[in-house]
Amino acid sequence: MTTEPDIDSTAAKLRHLLTSRLVGDGWLHSPQWRAAVEAVPRHEFVRRFYRESDSPGLTTWTPVTAELVGVEEWLRQAYTDDTLITQFDGREIDWSDPQPISNAHPTSSSTLPALVVRMLEELQVQDGMTVLEIGTGTGYSTALMCHRLGAERVSSIETDPDVADRARDALDRCGYAPRLIVRDGLAGDSEGAPYDRTIATCGVRHVPRPWVQQTRPGGLILATLRGWMRSLGLVRLTVDRTGRAEGRFIADDPSFMIARQQEAPLNLGMIPAPDDGTTRSTPHGPGLLGMPDSGFVAQLAMPGARFFSMPTHDGTPGTYVIDATNGSFAVLTPKGDGEWTVRQGGLITLWDEFEQSLAVWHTAGSPPPTAFGVTVTPQRQCVWLGSPGGPNWRLPTATQAPADTA
Ligand SMILES: C[S@@+](CC[C@H](N)C(=O)[O-])C[C@H]1O[C@@H](n2cnc3c(N)ncnc32)[C@H](O)[C@@H]1O
Repeated sequence: MTTEPDIDSTAAKLRHLLTSRLVGDGWLHSPQWRAAVEAVPRHEFVRRFYRESDSPGLTTWTPVTAELVGVEEWLRQAYTDDTLITQFDGREIDWSDPQPISNAHPTSSSTLPALVVRMLEELQVQDGMTVLEIGTGTGYSTALMCHRLGAERVSSIETDPDVADRARDALDRCGYAPRLIVRDGLAGDSEGAPYDRTIATCGVRHVPRPWVQQTRPGGLILATLRGWMRSLGLVRLTVDRTGRAEGRFIADDPSFMIARQQEAPLNLGMIPAPDDGTTRSTPHGPGLLGMPDSGFVAQLAMPGARFFSMPTHDGTPGTYVIDATNGSFAVLTPKGDGEWTVRQGGLITLWDEFEQSLAVWHTAGSPPPTAFGVTVTPQRQCVWLGSPGGPNWRLPTATQAPADTA
């Protein structure tokens, strides 16, 4: 049996192992962040969580608490380099009788430590700087920043009051008292501005204007841009004196849960009737949507779209690409010999848009997402290829139609 005092020493050993792993894997470099990971007790932030089970097929999550799996196993899992889910579908979990969960949508978590420290390193903080975090979640990343900079320099916003309460309690237990705010973080924190750094641990479809206005000139914004098909990646923007923010994608793989206010509409959109739209052949099949780099281009070209597979009216396997924001659609069916039929209709000819973007990308040598960057001005937000003057695609902002691409 592990007794209470053992929790601290067991946790310290596990933290040391986790730290060494993060250093060994190349995510953790600086002595200050290393000290923070060694010091902050992640287990205090994840007393109860769900972890993805290794089962084929349907994704299933299994509950983990000290009572369910024993203190040592709970601690071991709390210090794995893994994302630990703490909420599904915006609803609190009934911990009086926790059951495995499937068919659910995680809405809060303690992010994979490798990604947390990678982002903190990329934030390029220096002593004395102030930070605004959007997406407090469990409070673990907030605690790391409190350790590094001092809690008085850290503000964090969480949209969900229950999640925020738990984070506040955990931070309190660990002796950190940052400024915690419960509201839609897309509005930022004008009272605490200007900040030297703004970091978002929820994904956004575009960079909220307040984040730019509330970050001081020369300051940095680190956020994951994402769409409804996939994540675009982690972008680091430098804010200038004119209210412009610009920078490059620095990683293409991180995928954060999207800000709740920017979730895709529940309704996937109208299934087009069999004779809707116009039909042509294409060599570009739906497989491109799921591939890492061409999928990135698809997300840029069709920012309001989503896709799913379903047989068409005559039983042929079909892939439906639908933009529910404007009723546009493209339906792809196999023709044989690597050719496809695409039937398109609605306001935007989605597959034409995608193929034009693919052609631009191929002409540039099919570079990875890190060849792209982002410019945010008060009038416009766009992703560009190569340099700010290069080919560009508009990001969907509140005042622009989602399919308003260039
Ligand atoms: C991946 S979790 C955050 C992980 C956290 N940094 C940690 O270390 O535990 C993302 C969080 O963002 C929150 N969130 C989503 N939309 C938000 C918004 N508009 N403003 C503030 N928080 C938001 C979610 O409720 C969730 O708790």
